[in-house]
Amino acid sequence: MQNVRLVTDDLYWVGADEHRLHLFENVHPIPRGVSYNSYLLLDKKTVLFDTVDWAGCRQFLENIEYVLNGRPLDYLLINHLEPDHAASIDEILVRHPETTVISNEKAFMIMHQFGFHIDGEDRTFEVKEGDTFCFGDHTVTFVGAPMVHWPEAMVTLDLTNGVLFSADGFGSFGALNGKLFADEVDFDKDWLDDARRYLTNIVGKYGPHVQLLLGKAGGVLDKIKIICPLHGPVWRKDLLYFIDKYDKWSRYEPEEKGVLIIYASMYGNTEATAMKLGSNLSQKGFNNFSVYDVSSNHVSYLISETFKYSHIVIASVTYNLGIFPPVLDYLEHMKALNLQKRSFAVIENGSWAPKAGDLIEAFLNDELKEMTVLSGRVTVNSSLNESSERELDELADSLIESVTET
Ligand code: FEO
Repeated sequence: MQNVRLVTDDLYWVGADEHRLHLFENVHPIPRGVSYNSYLLLDKKTVLFDTVDWAGCRQFLENIEYVLNGRPLDYLLINHLEPDHAASIDEILVRHPETTVISNEKAFMIMHQFGFHIDGEDRTFEVKEGDTFCFGDHTVTFVGAPMVHWPEAMVTLDLTNGVLFSADGFGSFGALNGKLFADEVDFDKDWLDDARRYLTNIVGKYGPHVQLLLGKAGGVLDKIKIICPLHGPVWRKDLLYFIDKYDKWSRYEPEEKGVLIIYASMYGNTEATAMKLGSNLSQKGFNNFSVYDVSSNHVSYLISETFKYSHIVIASVTYNLGIFPPVLDYLEHMKALNLQKRSFAVIENGSWAPKAGDLIEAFLNDELKEMTVLSGRVTVNSSLNESSERELDELADSLIESVTET
């Protein structure tokens, strides 16, 4: 059974939702699923923009045949080669021997590497940035988006109606469940966290490349009316709201002046310390903070929240005279994703040789960029006592002062 949505006039969403995959890229949990978006334009020529993951192929094929309604598929335009979008290329080419594939040189190279059967130059048409291609009433142009999120990635702008096919850009985790447009959902409440988690974990490392793309988009911003990403909702209203989020995330600027408390606790005493810090902050009238147990939250959530907040408190036990492994994993992820420009406070716990504080501060200072470590580290020996409780209260004051003045 077909399940398509009209995007505008002669453009259809023909993608598919994914609800059965637990880990996106076999790494990131997606409890709300994910969508693989593909779009089909019915101009004088018919054009399919990208395909879907193999998991969504059956629905995708039914959607295409329904929208084509007997017409040939003239073109398959590929903006991004990662298999969550490109896996079904072969299936399209087998079913539609009339189809010509449009993409760029690097994308065709990667298609060959994956073994896609695009044999013969008569089935391919190579384009480069700035080229235009006319399908009848619609003329599109191509803009390179290298490393957003692979080197071959490009975006395609329909100059006729202002539709931007943005590849992974402006995407989000989360299945659509029928609600295609961002204005059909409460995006701030139900989608923003997953959109941030998607962007920061998948493309976070390539902030400068996202900035480059946003710079190019800035030059034609007045022409962009609809953003069609390869994951998540389509944007036809309030485009600047989401563009501004992408701008902040890719500049590593926090969205909010607030505090993220991440704790690592083996027997509950460091957890109790983190809870006490939360109480102190709230008692002082400061409530814009979130608390996460590093052991029971996947690191992708911690990374997303670290991109969100200006200040982070790491409260950690010492383990084998080193950093508690899940905390070290969190720090390594920050480094891999190029996360920067945050302020940290450190709480350490150790029953006989507390070492975590020194090691965490060294990592923040030596391995990451533009991180500030606030003074006033709190050391807990086994459990809070009168002295460390007083230090914890002073840390709450320092955090509030620092958040307020940034
Ligand atoms: Fe959604 Fe980079 O693929």
